[in-house]
Amino acid sequence: MKRILSGVQATGKIHIGNYFGAIKQFVDLGKDNDAYYMIADLHSITTVQDKEELKENIFDVALDYLALGIDPEKSVIFRQSQIPAHTDLTWIFNCITTMPYLMRAHAFKDAEAKAKEVNVGLFDYPVLMASDILLYSPDLVPVGKDQKQHVEYARDIAEKFNRIYGDTFKLPEEYILQDVAIVAGIDGRKMSKSYGNHIPLFAERNEIEKLVMSIVTDSKTPEETKSTEGDTLFTLHSLVSDKETLDKVRTGYENGGLGYGETKKMLVESMDSFIAPLREKRRELVKDRDYVLGVLEEGANKARNVARLKMQEVKEKIGLILE
Ligand code: AMP
Ligand code: TRP
Repeated sequence: MKRILSGVQATGKIHIGNYFGAIKQFVDLGKDNDAYYMIADLHSITTVQDKEELKENIFDVALDYLALGIDPEKSVIFRQSQIPAHTDLTWIFNCITTMPYLMRAHAFKDAEAKAKEVNVGLFDYPVLMASDILLYSPDLVPVGKDQKQHVEYARDIAEKFNRIYGDTFKLPEEYILQDVAIVAGIDGRKMSKSYGNHIPLFAERNEIEKLVMSIVTDSKTPEETKSTEGDTLFTLHSLVSDKETLDKVRTGYENGGLGYGETKKMLVESMDSFIAPLREKRRELVKDRDYVLGVLEEGANKARNVARLKMQEVKEKIGLILE
């Protein structure tokens, strides 16, 4: 049994990339491990600064976790903002982290390159994430590839703290499945809300149809042979289609005879069959708001106890406890 910790930001509806790249691993690992799954609501205020939108986004992640099969009887589901230790520890880590080191973070560099106004919270994002992780001493942190650097930051910060104050934090490892490390969106780039190329995980059939039909392909005719390697349609089929459909697409690509139009229609069918039961489960949960809020309360109580103990140890190590 391993300790697992991960989280997603509350920034809007999750998509196929979030699910296959990360949340599916949360579900799978949660089955026989000691798992903690957060809603990173403090991270999301670096970008979401509308009260109603934030409230909705937070609740959405809770619904997503539950609809996708994270079992609250087995795993702890909680909101970061309900555990004060996350921000307490962030301050302490801030004091051992240098500015040039944080300036090397991809997310910060991207934001700067886009000439966005970078707030201090965004700059400090990796430090808050290090606190999220290190408070719970996880063995593994399941994430998509774009979060690899953040887990490395957590490891570096833990090492530095241990060096200064003595062994306190366990060094975490990222858990990334190579096949789904980067799921492509409808334009072939990494699927991402910010690129607007995503397929929402709980999309209705007409939306799935519209998005799948607009997936960018080359201009090969149906008769020509096609490569499955790096092909967005084929990759998405491999995520959501049954074996029979996938074999049909593979043969049609390799031998020629299957056009992109037909491949897309088959993908719409597979994707809708995959999503329909999840949509249904989510719809049921929406009706039971009190149940969902109860799960979050209970999760926060469990997480708080773990975090509080670690924080006590940290304060002791750095000289904030007077006997
Ligand atoms: P976010 O919505 O940025 O909080 O992402 C939640 C999780 O989904 C993170 O672990 C990301 O690494 C992962 N993720 C996001 N987009 C993709 C993608 N296109 N392919 C694979 N994983 C992804
Ligand atoms: N930064 C992560 C993302 O965008 C979300 C996150 C916040 C997280 N805290 C975490 C992921 C701790 C893993 C562990 O997806």
